[in-house]
Amino acid sequence: MCGIYSSLSTNKMLCSDFLISLKELEYRGYDSAGLVTLDKNKKYKSYKTLSKIDDLKLKISKEESSSLLIGHTRWATHGKPNIKNCHPHIIENLSIVHNGVVENYDDLKKNKIFKNVKFKTDTDTEMILLLIYNYCKSNSFINAVKKTIKLIKGSNAFVCSNIGKGINELAAYKNNTPLYFGIKNNGEKVFSSDVNAMSNSLKGYYYLDNNDIVHITNKNTALYNKKNKRIVLKKIVDSNFKRPKIVSSCYTYSEIKDQKKIISTYGKNIQKIYNVVRKIKKPNEINIIGCGSSYNAGLLAKAFLEKNSNIPTSVYRPSEFNFFLNNKNKLFIFISQSGETADICSLIESKKEFFSNSLSIVNNDDSRLVRESKYNINLNVGLERGVAATKTFSSQILVLNIISKILSKDNNNLVFPSSSVINKLFSYEKEIIKLSKKYSKFKNLFVLGRNYNFPIACEAALKIKEISYIHAEGAPSSEIKHGPIALFDNKFPVIFLVSNKKETIHSEISSLNEVISRTNNIFLIAPDTVVKKLEPKTLSKIDVIAVPDFQNDMAPILYLIILQLFSYHLAKSKKLNIDQPRNLAKVVTVE
Ligand code: F6R
Repeated sequence: MCGIYSSLSTNKMLCSDFLISLKELEYRGYDSAGLVTLDKNKKYKSYKTLSKIDDLKLKISKEESSSLLIGHTRWATHGKPNIKNCHPHIIENLSIVHNGVVENYDDLKKNKIFKNVKFKTDTDTEMILLLIYNYCKSNSFINAVKKTIKLIKGSNAFVCSNIGKGINELAAYKNNTPLYFGIKNNGEKVFSSDVNAMSNSLKGYYYLDNNDIVHITNKNTALYNKKNKRIVLKKIVDSNFKRPKIVSSCYTYSEIKDQKKIISTYGKNIQKIYNVVRKIKKPNEINIIGCGSSYNAGLLAKAFLEKNSNIPTSVYRPSEFNFFLNNKNKLFIFISQSGETADICSLIESKKEFFSNSLSIVNNDDSRLVRESKYNINLNVGLERGVAATKTFSSQILVLNIISKILSKDNNNLVFPSSSVINKLFSYEKEIIKLSKKYSKFKNLFVLGRNYNFPIACEAALKIKEISYIHAEGAPSSEIKHGPIALFDNKFPVIFLVSNKKETIHSEISSLNEVISRTNNIFLIAPDTVVKKLEPKTLSKIDVIAVPDFQNDMAPILYLIILQLFSYHLAKSKKLNIDQPRNLAKVVTVE
C-alpha cells in the first residue's frame, strides 16, 4: 500500500540516492509515485509518474540534489490512480504525502473552511493540506498541523513540509498506519512508512505511537504525544539492518528458493519459540486469526493443534470473528507476516481486554500487531518483498507445528525435511515449467486435497489467483460430490494432491478416479510410493509429480513447494509482473 519516504538535512542530498530508498517501498504495492525537491530558488519542484520509480530516475538529472526531499508511492484509495492525484500535493510553501484514508472526508467537506474552495484533486490528502494551509494563516506551522489532526478521523499517516525564509521544517503524524522517524549517520533526518527503506547508514529509529507528531527543522527535533505534550524522544532503537541477498531478478522466485535453507535449518529457532510458549498456560481452546495466506496457515495449524496438543481450535478471518464467544482459558493466535494488516490490528485493538491472552506470529518485530499482543514469535526469515507470501507462509507452518508439539510436550519428535529432500523438489523444476505452460492456457483451475493437504490446496489456489490471474479454487477432495464435481470438464483442470495417510488413501484414490473420468487435464502430486502403486492406465491419463515420501506433519510443505514453483512458472509463462501483481499490496494498512 502507500509508502512515505521523506528527508531533511542541513546538506544537500542527491536525488538519485533518495530514489534508491524510495524504490525500497516498491514491494509494498503502488500505482503511481512522486517526489518534490527544492530548486535553486528554494521553490518546490515536483516529479510524478504512473509507472515505476525507475521512470522518476529518468526524469531527474543525476546531479540534482536538495536539502529537502518528500517522496511517496501511492496505492489509490481516494481518487483514481492518475498524475493529478499522485502525491506529493503542494500549496504555496506547503507540500504533503499521506497514507491512509480520511474517514470523515464527506462530513469535513461541509465545513465552512471549504466554502468557495475548489479542490484540484480527488484525494482526501488535499483536504489535509488545505486544512493545514488554512490554519497556517493565523498559526505557526506546527500548531496548524496540531489543529488539523484534531479534525481528521481514520487510519492516517502524513508528512507535511513547510519551506520558509532560512528554515525548512517537516511535521509527521501517524494514527494506526506505520510511520518511522530515523536519524542517519550523517545527521540526515528521515520519515518512512517502512524501516527497510531507511536502513542504509541508519543510526537509529523511532516508531511513532498513535497520534504522535514529530516536528523537525534543520536544527531541532520535537516530539508531541497524543495529549499534545512535548515529550523526550528517547525510544530511539539502534539500527542493525542487513539487506537480504537476492539470488534472482525476481524477488518471489528468490524467496521460494530461500526456503531450501530456511526449512532444513529451522530447528535453530526451536529454543526461542520454546522460551515464549513455556510462558503461556496451556489453554482449553485456541482461536487463530489471520488474513489471506496467514489464514491458510491457520487452517493447517488447527489440524496440528487438534492432533498433537488435543486443543480444540477455530480459525477466523478478523472481519468474521465472533465476539459472542467468551475468552476464558483461551489463547488467541494472531498470524500476520507484516504485523501491519489493518483488519487484524484493528480487531486486537478494538477489545484489548478480551484478547489479553494473545500470541502474535509475525515477520516484523517492530510492528503494530507485535505491540498489541502479549506474546510474540518472530518468523525470522528476513524481509519478504514479493507480494505473494512464500517463505513467510512456510515458516508460519513450521512455527505453528513447533508450538503444537511444545503444547503437547512432545517436542522431541520434530523432524524437518532435510536439504536433500527439498533439493529433490527443486530438481523437478523443468517438469513443472512444462506443466505450467500447458495449464497457463486455462481460465480456471481446481486444487483438491484432503486433511493437511486441504489448507495447502487453498494456499496454492490463492497463489495461482494472485500472480497468474487464473481463477483457482481450493477444496477438500472428499467434498467433490457435494458440489465441485459439477464443474469438472476438459476446460476445468484439476490439481489433485494425494497424501500417504493410510486411513484415507483409498478414498483419496477413489476421488482421483472420479475426477479422471470427468476431465482430461489432471495434475497429480503424490508421494513416490503412492505413485508407484497407481495403474499404468491411470498414469497414462494424467500429469504427475511424485514427491519424496515424508511421514510426518511436515509432509504438506513438500506439496507446497511444488505448487509455489508451479504458480510462479504459470505467471512467468504469461509474462506477468510476479513481484507486484495488479491491485495487490504487500502490506495492507487500510481495511
Ligand atoms: C498471499 C498474500 C496475502 C496476505 C494477506 C495477509 O500471498 O500475500 O493474502 O497473506 O494480505 O497479510 P499478512 O500476513 O501480512 O497479515
